[in-house]
Amino acid sequence: MNYYTPEISDSIFWVGSKDWNRRMFDALIPLPDGTSYNSYLVKGSRGSALIDSVNPGFEDELIDKLGSLTDIKALDFVIMNHAEPDHATAIKAVMDISTDAKLVTTQKGAKMAQVFYKIPEQRLVIVKDGDTLELGDRTLRFIEAPWLHWPETMFTYVQENRILFSCDYFGAHTAAGFYDDEVEDLISVAKRYFGEIMMPFKAKGAQALEKIKDMDIAIIAPSHGPIYRNPERILGMYYIWTAGKTQEKAILVYASMWGATEAMVKSMAETLMAEGIQISYFNLLNADIGDIARELVDSRAIVLGTPTVLGEMHPLAVYAAHLVKILKPPLRYGVALSSYGWGGGAIRQLSEMLKPTKIEVLGAIEINGPASDEDFNNIELLGKQLAARIKSS
Ligand SMILES: Cc1cc2nc3c(=O)[nH]c(=O)nc-3n(C[C@H](O)[C@H](O)[C@H](O)COP(=O)(O)O)c2cc1C
Ligand SMILES: [Fe+2]
Ligand SMILES: [Fe+2]
Repeated sequence: MNYYTPEISDSIFWVGSKDWNRRMFDALIPLPDGTSYNSYLVKGSRGSALIDSVNPGFEDELIDKLGSLTDIKALDFVIMNHAEPDHATAIKAVMDISTDAKLVTTQKGAKMAQVFYKIPEQRLVIVKDGDTLELGDRTLRFIEAPWLHWPETMFTYVQENRILFSCDYFGAHTAAGFYDDEVEDLISVAKRYFGEIMMPFKAKGAQALEKIKDMDIAIIAPSHGPIYRNPERILGMYYIWTAGKTQEKAILVYASMWGATEAMVKSMAETLMAEGIQISYFNLLNADIGDIARELVDSRAIVLGTPTVLGEMHPLAVYAAHLVKILKPPLRYGVALSSYGWGGGAIRQLSEMLKPTKIEVLGAIEINGPASDEDFNNIELLGKQLAARIKSS
């Protein structure tokens, strides 16, 4: 096939793959726009290196693309910024051909390369923060950036080109476009990715930003989505998101079987809107988890609605509350709304589930059957309280 392998910067080529049709990631996250696995070839005057590779199923494509640009057998290094299979699987296929190439990674990455990909120890080169690798007229510098989003992660910086290869950090799940300025709404796509993948590691993310703060970065080349040839905007957003800065926003998430809980949530939405709070609104029956993750990045409050089902929360609401717990969004306030038929129990369970989070639960309204006028009045009162807290902090 005739493949596209653009030279994204002097002597640096994109040899990644576009996965236009992929619709799910990590058996969890919907991919409405597919994704890309960005892999890069650096051709120095005295050596070459491949930076990250591609997802299982794209090995042959990578080999073909590399073969059209260089003698794969003579490749000197494969840089593994991250050991997750979407970037590291095809490393094995490349190293089977380039039998002298060494795999360059962090200490933890080396262990993973042995466990996951059976790379023999004698082919591993372990690098530490600040180490460099000379390829003649190209110099690679390694920056340890652990826990973004696995323990072994690092960035690679090519000094002469001022390019930062950040792997998943600054990534976006979309197959569209090669450069940031070619994708409309890219910040929204990147925010969704941040919420899904990086939000639980905000503090580590902030540390990584601090490390690269004074570096001269002309291009950020992540391993998913477009390459940032205008890196300022995404850097600015990452400063905000990793700091956990929230807006006057509330996210409303609920499940409802017969509409009683839904009416409570809708009434809360009306009050919050009337109070000037921005809202996002998700019925878990058809909500996209990625959209919820995106809204969690900068919402200040959450309203969770669930009926009681067999003495507990609705299973979809359990799922949502669990996501809130593990994704660690910067939410400050919470409100619980619930309808039950005879004994209740959902609110008890929800309070338990939210205990390990930093969310201050301002109130819970649990009603029997559909809401009465008095119940709606109570919801309005609680909504006004919630809005006041959102606005005062
Ligand atoms: C499958 C099923 C299981 C239920 N289990 C309970 C229960 O264990 N305890 C209870 O108080 N109500 C239970 N209910 C009643 C609902 O909680 C009640 O109808 C509530 O008003 C439904 O709210 P919704 O309209 O938001 O779905 C159950 C209802 C269904 C359909
Ligand atoms: Fe990853
Ligand atoms: Fe990835």
